[in-house]
Amino acid sequence: MEETRRTLGLFSVLCVSLICINLSFSPVYAFYGRRQLRFNPDGRFKILQVSDMHYGNGKESQCADVSPAELSYCSDLNTTAFLQRTIASEKPDLIVFSGDNVYGICETKDAAKTMNMAFAPAIESGIPWVAILGNHDQESDMTRETLMKYIVTLPNTLSQVNPLDAWRYQIDGFGNYNLQIEGPFGSPLFLKSVLNLYLLDGGDYTKLDGFVYNYDWVKTSQQNWYEHTSKWLEFEYKRWPFPQNSTAAGLVYLHIPVPEFSLFNKSTEMTGVRQEKTCSPPINSGFFTKLVERGEVKGVFSGHDHINDFCGELHGINLCYAGGAGYHGYGKVGWARRARIVEAQLEKTIYGRWGAVDTIKTWKRLDDENHSLIDTQLLWSKNTIALVLYHNIDH
Ligand SMILES: *[C@@H]1O[C@H](CO)[C@@H](O)[C@H](O)[C@H]1NC(C)=O
Ligand SMILES: *[C@@H]1O[C@H](CO)[C@@H](O)[C@H](O)[C@H]1NC(C)=O
Ligand SMILES: *[C@@H]1O[C@H](CO)[C@@H](O)[C@H](O)[C@H]1NC(C)=O
Ligand SMILES: *[C@@H]1O[C@H](CO)[C@@H](O)[C@H](O)[C@H]1NC(C)=O
Repeated sequence: MEETRRTLGLFSVLCVSLICINLSFSPVYAFYGRRQLRFNPDGRFKILQVSDMHYGNGKESQCADVSPAELSYCSDLNTTAFLQRTIASEKPDLIVFSGDNVYGICETKDAAKTMNMAFAPAIESGIPWVAILGNHDQESDMTRETLMKYIVTLPNTLSQVNPLDAWRYQIDGFGNYNLQIEGPFGSPLFLKSVLNLYLLDGGDYTKLDGFVYNYDWVKTSQQNWYEHTSKWLEFEYKRWPFPQNSTAAGLVYLHIPVPEFSLFNKSTEMTGVRQEKTCSPPINSGFFTKLVERGEVKGVFSGHDHINDFCGELHGINLCYAGGAGYHGYGKVGWARRARIVEAQLEKTIYGRWGAVDTIKTWKRLDDENHSLIDTQLLWSKNTIALVLYHNIDH
């Protein structure tokens, strides 16, 4: 008994000092986001993005934009089946639901029940998953805050309502957070985040200029949080032990596309298709500029515009749509519902061990009869950049 108490006492002193060390070295958020995700022993990490499920009442929810023949037997359950099928074939390491997960404005009256159904395939898979909100999620009986507070209680999720240091930035919205993916066990970078994910709440609507149905934007407070977090992660990546020379790669998930998505229209400039205009905010809040300045993020992954599914590169950053995954949301007859996969691969260092992120690839999975895999592309490569630099110096 005495022994136990002494051990406990020692343990709590250690704990307290560890927390102190952590507080003095780093903002709490970095600690909070850590040690939850890790690259696989084969040096890969795969993310499945599922956007715009627009889940309603399950079996009773009618599908939108399917052929008339399919209408009588198509429901939210088709969305569930698509998700199960995609998880089974891709075996991702993380699933990201990028908003409009539930469709409040229709017949949904119980958002918690709807979310349980919508996220069920992810929960049942045992794979870590996260969700952010779109502009439709809050339309039934839960506010954006209560939605996120509910989501974080579900099994296997790494979602956060907001970062622990949100108060410092008086951060806008709910569901802004950072996930850090560490190097594989046994690699020098096993204690460093080699891939940083930023999940942001893009809000819903703004009353700017009196128009109620203008879409909201990434606020200055969120950008300040992003910048601070990103700078801290860079500092950590470059410090002892195993100091790195560049920043780690980053990816952003955000429901409403930033206005720069609208710059892509020519098929030669993008992989995938545009079939509707980009519905971004009426004002450019400068988030893309901030990402360019930081030089860390290689891709911004959005949803919102269900029948666009392209990736286009601007100033070294890929702007990618997921394409709509949900049958209860609008789509296009004959154009299959889909989801986007992103896979990061680490480089082998000269000692034969895993180092930093070497390449980032992406492709899409369709809910057609063959479960087609399309549009595989290299989004980013460390070596391409090195070669381009070399080439420029050479001339
Ligand atoms: C929905 O699921 C049913 C039952 O499996 C299937 O017959 C139907 O083709 C699916 N509809 C669509 C549009 O995929
Ligand atoms: C960083 O750069 C220095 C000097 O160019 C080099 O010696 C070192 O090996 C580099 N470290 C890494 C991890 O690339
Ligand atoms: C794309 O280009 C076509 C042809 O120039 C034009 O009709 C269409 O409005 C453009 N779409 C967008 C979203 O800019
Ligand atoms: C599925 O694959 C079969 C056999 O390769 C092909 O004939 C068919 O057109 C494919 N269907 C779709 C929708 O791609």
